[in-house]
Amino acid sequence: MPQPPKVLVFDSGLGGLTVFAEIARARPDAQLIYAADDAGFPYGELEEGALVARVMTVMERLIAEAAPDAVVIACNTASTLVLPHLRRQFPLIPFVGTVPAVKPAASLSRSKLISVLATPGTVARDYTRELVRTYAAHCVVTLVGSSALASLAEAFMQGEAPSDAAILREIAPAFVSEGERTDCIVLACTHYPLLIDQFARLAPWAVQWIDPAPAIARRTDHVLREDLGFPAPQEHLEPATQHRALFTSSAAPSERLSEALRKRGIGKIGMEPMPLVFA
Ligand code: DGL
Repeated sequence: MPQPPKVLVFDSGLGGLTVFAEIARARPDAQLIYAADDAGFPYGELEEGALVARVMTVMERLIAEAAPDAVVIACNTASTLVLPHLRRQFPLIPFVGTVPAVKPAASLSRSKLISVLATPGTVARDYTRELVRTYAAHCVVTLVGSSALASLAEAFMQGEAPSDAAILREIAPAFVSEGERTDCIVLACTHYPLLIDQFARLAPWAVQWIDPAPAIARRTDHVLREDLGFPAPQEHLEPATQHRALFTSSAAPSERLSEALRKRGIGKIGMEPMPLVFA
């Protein structure tokens, strides 16, 4: 039997689980390791130099520990900044990134009013602004940086119910009405699809919410097959193994979170304590 592909899926917290779930569906043969740098959360508030240094340090340790065939950076805030550094440092490992889905939104939109809902870090990036210039020059694009939504999504995963008012306050600026109305909103932070039911219920009007997770899973499958030579998984394959999760804080996950992880096929949870220390 050939070895199954081993894929490391990385985020600052629990948001990357939205990408993890799609990869698990697309590659049921893969052995997945979910790594959350919860000691460094939230990345959206970190200054760019500090974020590059942090991700490089954490990734060095995770790659040495997990020896993955491929790495998925399931975080827009990190991908829009750190991918070139990672590719330079680890040239033998393919990295799949997660960046704001501006291109599909711009082509799907009929009103040509689109919004990008992301962390303050992601909306400030040159990379994001360049995506808008390249793919959405014919649209009016509203960039909305939210300081609170990723934390609200984390709390939700821990069993708390964020208030409707708190969520609405964050998403409201993404709804623009200028004759035409916003009709596509890019979920440019992997935490946000965790709150999609609340977003859809609280939206002032119906929009298309664009979650890039299925596209990232397809890209990961492509890399495994085309770049690394792993055969396509057999159809109707039962998931091969129990997946594993690693957290960089030393706080043991709550029973609620362990249950949420088990539901996603993650049976083994480990700690890799790496406190965030500023130089
Ligand atoms: N999940 C991350 C993203 O996709 C960000 C959350 C954070 O601020 O750490 O951007």
